[in-house]
Amino acid sequence: MKNRILITGGAGFIGNELLNLIKNKKNLIVVDIKRNKKTIKKFQKLKIKYIGGNLNNKKFAKKIFKNVDLIYHLAGITKVPNTDVNLNKRKEKIIYNNSVNIMNNLVQHISKGTRVVFPSTHLVYENCKQNKKIFKENSKALPKLAYSRGKLECEMILKKNNINYAILRLGSVYGFAEKKRMFNLPNLFVLRSKNNQNLSLHSGGVQIKSIVSVKDVARAMVFISKKKYKKELYHFVSEHISVKEIGKYCSKFNKNIKLINTKDKIPYLGYIMDCSKILKTGFVFKNFYKDFVKEYLK
Ligand SMILES: NC(=O)c1ccc[n+]([C@@H]2O[C@H](COP(=O)([O-])OP(=O)(O)OC[C@H]3O[C@@H](n4cnc5c(N)ncnc54)[C@H](O)[C@@H]3O)[C@@H](O)[C@H]2O)c1
Repeated sequence: MKNRILITGGAGFIGNELLNLIKNKKNLIVVDIKRNKKTIKKFQKLKIKYIGGNLNNKKFAKKIFKNVDLIYHLAGITKVPNTDVNLNKRKEKIIYNNSVNIMNNLVQHISKGTRVVFPSTHLVYENCKQNKKIFKENSKALPKLAYSRGKLECEMILKKNNINYAILRLGSVYGFAEKKRMFNLPNLFVLRSKNNQNLSLHSGGVQIKSIVSVKDVARAMVFISKKKYKKELYHFVSEHISVKEIGKYCSKFNKNIKLINTKDKIPYLGYIMDCSKILKTGFVFKNFYKDFVKEYLK
């Protein structure tokens, strides 16, 4: 079949948004480890071919990855630690291996010429403990925890194997999602605010967050897959704002909540991702955090 599109991890947060943007669902296949009734029903209703299975499994992955023209490769473990305090080494190993094993399966089994869109992370710089340092795509990455080490290794695997890739190093992605997927800070703060819970600002909320809307992420993935840009890596962040500012947006739209400064340590002060490269492609960010908070809390 021509123009076959595969979304791995497509039953997740970004996948859900991406589905809305893919018009021709006839040639679309979604694969995810989730096999629960709710997920299966959702895809039946959408009339999208859904296959439940673990892409870590070589045999399964071989069947899935062959004969597709375009892969949005979103599968990965995302509920991960953000500091090295009380780190569970076993869990870290699982996070890293899940990411790297799937990518190895992908490069081994895809057909020649298949295009791969892969979301990496701004956290590949997490070990650079300087505030407001600006990172360009060619800056030296220094990951620390399994999640970002795994992502950097996946980037290398794509490059080494000469795959036709586009990598987006995403900031923390926010947007509407089911409650249990609202765990990263920009999402957690609006969820807590909605529930009238106060917000703790560790170290006074000085940490700079690199954030981007899930809507822009999905738009960029489709945009970049249609362009002739090949084997390119892009930083993808629309706003750099402090945790305190994030808290202030939330308290502006829910006057019942309080921002509480704490002395808890933060892992690093945050940094700036230079996104001029993606902007030069003609891509325009259209969604901003303040509007999301307003909509979520109204
Ligand atoms: N959300 C963010 O802030 C963010 C930031 C940077 C990068 N990313 C990356 O974007 C991708 C999608 O993220 P998301 O926010 O939609 O996360 P998500 O957790 O909602 O979706 C990931 C999906 O992958 C599936 N999955 C995990 N392991 C699998 C396996 N072995 N086989 C098949 N499916 C598997 C999960 O079931 C889940 O549905 C991930 O790779 C993530 O690391 C996300």
